[in-house]
Amino acid sequence: MDSILVRGGGPLNGQIPIAGAKNACLTLMPATLLSEEPLTLTNAPRLSDIKTMTQLLQSLGAEVTSLQEGKVLAMSSHGLNNPTAHYDIVRKMRASILVLGPMLARDGHAIVSLPGGCAIGARPVDLHLKALEAMGAELDLRDGYVHAKAPLGGLRGGTVDFEFASVGATENAVMAATLAKGTTVLNNAAREPEIVDLVECLRAMGAQIEGEGSSTITIQGVDRLGGATHRVVTDRIELGTYMLAPAICGGEVELLGGKIDLIGAFCEKLDAAGISVTETDKGLKVARKNGRIRAVDVTTEPFPGFPTDLQAQMMALLCTAEGTSVLEEKIFENRFMHAPELMRMGAQIDVQGGTATVTGVDQLRGAPVMATDLRASVSLILAGLAAQGETRVARVYHLDRGYEQVVRKLSGVGADIERVQGE
Ligand code: EPZ
Repeated sequence: MDSILVRGGGPLNGQIPIAGAKNACLTLMPATLLSEEPLTLTNAPRLSDIKTMTQLLQSLGAEVTSLQEGKVLAMSSHGLNNPTAHYDIVRKMRASILVLGPMLARDGHAIVSLPGGCAIGARPVDLHLKALEAMGAELDLRDGYVHAKAPLGGLRGGTVDFEFASVGATENAVMAATLAKGTTVLNNAAREPEIVDLVECLRAMGAQIEGEGSSTITIQGVDRLGGATHRVVTDRIELGTYMLAPAICGGEVELLGGKIDLIGAFCEKLDAAGISVTETDKGLKVARKNGRIRAVDVTTEPFPGFPTDLQAQMMALLCTAEGTSVLEEKIFENRFMHAPELMRMGAQIDVQGGTATVTGVDQLRGAPVMATDLRASVSLILAGLAAQGETRVARVYHLDRGYEQVVRKLSGVGADIERVQGE
């Protein structure tokens, strides 16, 4: 397993290009199952999670061809020949559950392994299943798999009242409803930009959908969907992550492709912490306003609130702030695993359940640390950029799931960072 070595240093300056969104691509790819016509995605990120989703779709009989070094995914599923999404692939990536809705809508049956939990929480899929049942699906859970069948005439439009604005459950329900007979209304739907991106792609394929980005989405089922070519939306989590690099180190960095409307709540917190964000014709320019970062309190919420996927990275910044910050993680039950690793670098953090109290220190110190999950891994790199001395982040396979070319992007703005073989 590779490690990343980071040597803390001075300010960072230059430009970082932001890739297409992993969490948009992971729901756009299963959408190919809804149509026999080709679906092509451009601006796709080059990540191990995308490779895993490619393997999964190919195991179902879909064709997925990676072009232009992975930035274009040409897909077609005119010939599905296997209704089963096997555990050995699903266990590697929870987003695999997103093939369930499209397969059920397209073929009327699907057998999908339950994804199981992951490091940050149990992450059940009950809301996905309830949504599909509201469209007439008959679900039988046995042997660790969901055995799903649509009614004889196919899925029927229905009303879904989500107890929680689940991103994945909203995505599964929207995709399934595009081919259901009649109208489906999703109440308390998730509002994330990745869902807006999915709807724009489905609409290009011929779907009739309204309300994306709001809490109520209405889908009028159609008999069939066509093909499309769709550009994956910019990754707001990669964007927010790299905005924190000049924030924690000083200097000025322009994030190419960045847009404020993707991360409004996050930018408000940066402003309160003493970081300036300026819109340019190429993206967003980020720099410290003056002097030390100020402590701010953060509570993670569904979009448009502060994203849980930026909580670990924000904690790294606040470890160096003047004052005490309180971070509340309201989305996942175990998403502070980066805290003990940051404390190895001299951070002062007190974790009580879903609340972490961070008292800023003048200087973090480099240390050997271990990545525990995707976003924790990059928070340790951010801390290492500001720390005195060398930080060695082990188990960076977590990083490869969600960040392409981290070493190249950060060294491109002056960071002293390299990837080394083995732990
Ligand atoms: C998506 O996960 C993202 N993943 C996550 O990003 C992100 O953290 C999350 O949304 C929240 O924004 C992808 O898009 C592939 P949820 P998802 O359903 O869909 C509970 C990353 O780092 N829940 O909104 O799984 C669940 O346990 C990843 O890129 C149920 O109880 O998120 C969690 O506590 C991590 N039952 C909360 O809701 C369900 O049926 C949020 O889950 C579904 C979810």
